Amino acid sequence: IFSGHNLTIYYTKVEKNGIANIGKCLDSLYLSKEKLLQISSLMLENMKKGLGKDTNPTATVKMLPTYVRATPDRTEKGEFLALDLGGTNFRVLRVKVEEKNVEMESEIYAIPQEIMLGTGTQLFDHIAQCLSQFLDKHYIIKKTLSLGFTFSFPCKQIDLQKSILISWTKGFCSGVEGEDVVLLLRDAICNRGDYDIDVIAVVNDTVGTMISYGYDDPKCEIGLIVGTGSSACYMEEICNIDLIEGNEGRMCINMEWGAFGDDGVLSDIQTEFDLEVDRLSLNPGKQTFEKMISGMYMGEIVRLILVQLANQHLLFNGITTPALMTKGKFETKNVSEIEDNTCGLAKAKDILCNLNLDPSDQDCIIVKQICSAVSTRSANLCTAGLASIVNHIQETRGLDNLKTSVGVDGTVYKKHPKYLRRLPQFLQQKLAPDCDVNFILSEDGSGKGAATVTAVAYQLAEQRCQ
Ligand code: GLC
Repeated sequence: IFSGHNLTIYYTKVEKNGIANIGKCLDSLYLSKEKLLQISSLMLENMKKGLGKDTNPTATVKMLPTYVRATPDRTEKGEFLALDLGGTNFRVLRVKVEEKNVEMESEIYAIPQEIMLGTGTQLFDHIAQCLSQFLDKHYIIKKTLSLGFTFSFPCKQIDLQKSILISWTKGFCSGVEGEDVVLLLRDAICNRGDYDIDVIAVVNDTVGTMISYGYDDPKCEIGLIVGTGSSACYMEEICNIDLIEGNEGRMCINMEWGAFGDDGVLSDIQTEFDLEVDRLSLNPGKQTFEKMISGMYMGEIVRLILVQLANQHLLFNGITTPALMTKGKFETKNVSEIEDNTCGLAKAKDILCNLNLDPSDQDCIIVKQICSAVSTRSANLCTAGLASIVNHIQETRGLDNLKTSVGVDGTVYKKHPKYLRRLPQFLQQKLAPDCDVNFILSEDGSGKGAATVTAVAYQLAEQRCQ
């Protein structure tokens, strides 16, 4: 038994040396409770650095003010469009916000690789084109339509309608850093000239997710995404946000926790596989925390481990195939499939055979163990991040016990068979015992949230005009 990973199942079948090597590899992914507490307090230190005026410029966790000051109070109403860009898919939504309920219909559009890596103009023209297709298809011909834009990348927000892109993450690389993404979107829509659309609000997906739950649960003050990327937001006291004038009330902070560790503070937990994933990425040295957590990278970490163990003759009879050696061929959705308790091992066999390998039953057990070590580490790191948030909220509000809710969205959280259980377990048992945290799984949190924020912004604008 290696720290936390039970390998006894195949102890008799693999040579002692082999066991030691597999164990070493699993051990490098294991994070003890003490280590997680240390990571959590480091995150908190970095959050405070991000909130401070003088320390913000060099902070890795940027703690970006979002100008979302309140969760919805259910008086907002109307029909809105929403765009959701930043995850696996780009989506256009039509959302009806009513007193008791939010209804929506949506379409998914692909963003071809050459557009993700092309110019900003190409990307925004493509978005505008998909939007027009959606409106045509759904016969939406109202004169002026209000739109909310979920744009899930780090942005310096000036207000709800002005958001300057700081950098791309998650496989996008389309230039236009330093430009206002709302202006780019407006220009692209305007250049087409076929629809009259008013872009009312832009939000990050974490914020959208938090807001969309705020509709049903006023205690929802934290938003978490574990999908292609990972980040969180929460409601912070304005008096703690140096970058914002005033002392009253709260504002939602988009943490951009993916960049935690970019200054090297996590180097002691980065494995050789993390370093390799980073080296082969579009943004080496950036998004350190995200690269250990999110769906864009988890499958790739597993693939690199499998390659190493095969090269050491500890898996697949020492055979590697061109498919196994190809970046991206082992996907995060495969990790979820393999960890399924009922059919995971059969799935492992299928997935590995599809990579032209000929896995033994024992290989499949080891692969399942590796998937579990990688996804458990991801959930543990997320929990450490969440613990920093809830402990911080509890401390700043001077509460003995905090009762709060986290709205969660993202493909990893939704599709992984165990992630959903692991987060609350780890949080309550290990890292934030004085906080009573309710996790709410979203159905379409980020898109619905954009429409809800749009509804709130629209209502505010109307009130100002009256
Ligand atoms: C990346 C983005 C961040 C987003 C997260 C989840 O980390 O930079 O804005 O919230 O992915 O999609």
